[in-house]
Amino acid sequence: MKNVETITLHINGSDRSLAIDPRTTLLDALREHLGLTGTKKGCDHGQCGACTVHVNGARVLSCLTLAVQAEGLPVATIEGLSRSEDELHVVQAAFVRHDAFQCGYCTPGQIMSAVACIREGHAGSDSDIREYMSGNICRCGAYANILEAIKDAAGSLAKGIEHETL
Ligand code: FES
Ligand code: FES
Repeated sequence: MKNVETITLHINGSDRSLAIDPRTTLLDALREHLGLTGTKKGCDHGQCGACTVHVNGARVLSCLTLAVQAEGLPVATIEGLSRSEDELHVVQAAFVRHDAFQCGYCTPGQIMSAVACIREGHAGSDSDIREYMSGNICRCGAYANILEAIKDAAGSLAKGIEHETL
């Protein structure tokens, strides 16, 4: 008999119930069970950062987190960052403005990581940003532009600007 457990996850402000095998990772729960495919699987081994989401306000690798571990805690994914269709979070807007992505596959993880990086106070210098964003690999080599985007967004967030209208 299959081992299935029903859990409720609090994702991007909404409660979502799902019946899953308790061995299911948060990444697979998001992608395969909830249709939230913005969070990407680049390695499934904690080495690329494409699966980065926030759990309880902190960035985590969702491929190394079991969905059951996130039960009862707020989970934020890339789909929840903008408030509406014509508004982007300042980090999203800065990534577009600075051309901080090419194929886009690492981008959701980069952006979730960048939001947390700024919030943690690790965006004070170029070297800090490089160091604290080093868990997110970009095969397209967008690092220089990612750095510029994060500096730009950190400036906006310091002024209290969270979203930008398109
Ligand atoms: S998919 Fe999670 S770190 Fe690569
Ligand atoms: S934009 Fe292609 S891997 Fe980063």
